[in-house]
Order: sequence, then structure tokens, then C-alpha cells
Amino acid sequence: MTTHSILFSSYSLGSLSLKNRIIMAPMTRNRADPAGNPQPIMATYYAQRASAGLIISEATQVCPEGRGYPCTPGIYTPEHVNGWKQITNAVHKAGGLIFLQLWHCGRISHSSYQPNGGSPPAPSAIEPRKGEVMTYQGPKPFETPRALETSEIPTIVAHYRNAAKRAIEAGFDGVEVHGANGYLIDQFLRNGSNTRTDNYGGTVENRARFLLEVVDAVIGEVGPDRVSVRLSPNGTFNDMSDSDPVATYSYAIAELSKRKIAFLHFIEKMMGDPAVHVTVAQARSWFKGPLAVNGGFTKERGEEVVSEGLADLVAIGVPFISNPDLVERFKRDAPLNQPDMGTFYGGNEKGYTDYTTL
Ligand SMILES: Cc1cc2nc3c(=O)[nH]c(=O)nc-3n(C[C@H](O)[C@H](O)[C@H](O)COP(=O)(O)O)c2cc1C
Repeated sequence: MTTHSILFSSYSLGSLSLKNRIIMAPMTRNRADPAGNPQPIMATYYAQRASAGLIISEATQVCPEGRGYPCTPGIYTPEHVNGWKQITNAVHKAGGLIFLQLWHCGRISHSSYQPNGGSPPAPSAIEPRKGEVMTYQGPKPFETPRALETSEIPTIVAHYRNAAKRAIEAGFDGVEVHGANGYLIDQFLRNGSNTRTDNYGGTVENRARFLLEVVDAVIGEVGPDRVSVRLSPNGTFNDMSDSDPVATYSYAIAELSKRKIAFLHFIEKMMGDPAVHVTVAQARSWFKGPLAVNGGFTKERGEEVVSEGLADLVAIGVPFISNPDLVERFKRDAPLNQPDMGTFYGGNEKGYTDYTTL
């Protein structure tokens, strides 16, 4: 039994004290109701995983236009807040901490999700050329999004601000701004999806403006020590690309560093990403605060990056789906349950709350 690992040491994150350095990565599981109301089974699921030092919730839309998948939760109505309260209570009762991940899908949405039935909003009218959109009628080809008017952007920023306020009302310990994986903020950041000619496109400073306005608004609502930001400079999911990732992310990350957010959540690489253009070491050099890394980390690789001082926290995704007691299994070097991919997205308790513990 090896319990001496640095991963199991506590870590203070602003005003929060994490009992270990293992974060449960945000994972969409599509078990809310179609109106985006979190369901009681989600309280069971998250509470089962409360031994993580910190849980980041599944991505949660900040406004109706932000939805891009079936049965994902929202945080823009009083009912959403009440639904989430059950979850934050259950996690806190089990001794855990939980942030809500704030999400707007942008071009990864579909007209069937838009309240006015129109094209999904995005920085530019460029549709992803790979992948499909998941609708209530099954997978469909991506639609060409409409480019947001400059005058519409403050309203979207306000949605993030209100969502952060509601998250705190719902009992969350903080919020994570989802700036990764090809959703709206990422679409603004990278020039493969942003060809705007106003203040939100063109230069790196302009492309990072939307991210930073959102982050500033959210900080204004909940304070910097309750805000994390997730970025995926090497991610190609949702057909993302950038002509100069180092230039884009060195600027964006240095700006986030100035804002003294709780931590930067850096996805090094996901399955299917061909190359690492921006390394953990570079992120570490640009960001002066706590750094969490994610993307295929095992216990051993996690220990390595933290011991070497390259990161402070390690976020783990898929292994947490099938191992509610992942931290205990890591402590005991116990074998891990294998995940059932067929039950990742939607369904009932099967593959959700019925994985066994040691
Ligand atoms: C089922 C599933 C759902 C996911 N949903 C989200 C999400 O809502 N928000 C997000 O930022 N990343 C999401 N991701 C990405 C994970 O947070 C994580 O970055 C990825 O699984 C790589 O980490 P891992 O190798 O430890 O699993 C999801 C991944 C999976 C497998």
C-alpha cells in the first residue's frame, strides 16, 4: 500500500482547502431533463465521487442559446438553481468541494436548440468540417453558424456573469469558465474559427478579448479565488485550429495570470490530438498561479508532474466515471474498473451511479 504520494497531500487554493491534489475533470453525462434541470440521480453520482480534492461539474449552459447537446444542465432559471442545490448539498455532506463549469456551445449548437429556431451563434460563419451535432432527433451535420453582431457580445458576457451568480446561490464553491474543446470562448480565441474584423477578431489581443471579458465579469461576481479557466491549446476536437498556438496562448495565459484566478486548468492533450504545440512547461512559465493539468494522466504521470513542480493539481476524467473511489484506489494501487463508453452520454443509473467501489 503506497499512501505517501504527493497527490494525496492537501492543497490550499485561495480560501479553499483541497484534501488532495486530484481533481475530477468536468464530464458531460446528459442526465438532466430536457429543460436543463439537474436530476436527483446527479446528486448521487457527484456525492459518490466527493473524495476528489475538487470536482468540476459537467459543462452547464449559461443561456438557452448556449445548449448544444441533449439533456445537458443549465444555470439560468430558478429551477436550475434549486436542482443544483441538491447536488452541492450532497457533495458537501460527503466532504467534497465542487465548481460549476460555465458553458456556451456557440457553433456546436443547432437550430433545433435555438429559441428562435435560427442558426447557432458563433464568432464567424464557419462551420466545423469534422464531426456531427447531437440533437434530440439524433446526430446531424453541423450547420453554418451566424456571426454574432458586435452589439450582441455584452449580452453573452452578462449571461456568464449571471450564471456565476446563480452558481454561488446554488451552493457551488466556485466556477470554471469553459474556454476549451472548441466551444464559444475557444472559437473566439483561435483563428481557425474566428475571422472577425471588429475588436473581437484579428490580433491575438482581439481574439482573447471575449475570454477576458467573460473572466472579468465572472470575477466581478464571485471573486478571483473562486474562478478557474479551462484551456486546450492543443485540442483539435470540434475541428479547432490556430495558425500560431504559442502566440495565442502565451498572451491569453499571461493575461489570466494577472487576474489571480484560483487556477488554470490546462488540457495538455486529448485522445485524437495529433501534436502538442503548447507544453505544460510553457503554460507553467506564463501562468504564475496554481496549475492543474489534464489529459490521459495516470497516478504515476500525475505524481511525476507534481513532484517535478510542473503542475500543482492533476485532473482525471474517464477513470472517475468508472471508479467513484478513484482516490482510494490510487492510494492502495488497486486495479481500476473499466469504463463502459456506451453509457457515457445519457441514460439512467446504468454506467452512471452503479460502478462498484473497493
Ligand atoms: C464523457 C465525457 C464528457 C466530457 N465532458 C466534458 C465537459 O463537459 N467539459 C469539459 O471541459 N471537458 C469534458 N470532457 C473532457 C474531459 O474533461 C477530459 O479533458 C478528457 O476526458 C481527458 O482526460 P482523461 O484522459 O483523464 O479522461 C469530457 C470527456 C468525456 C470522456
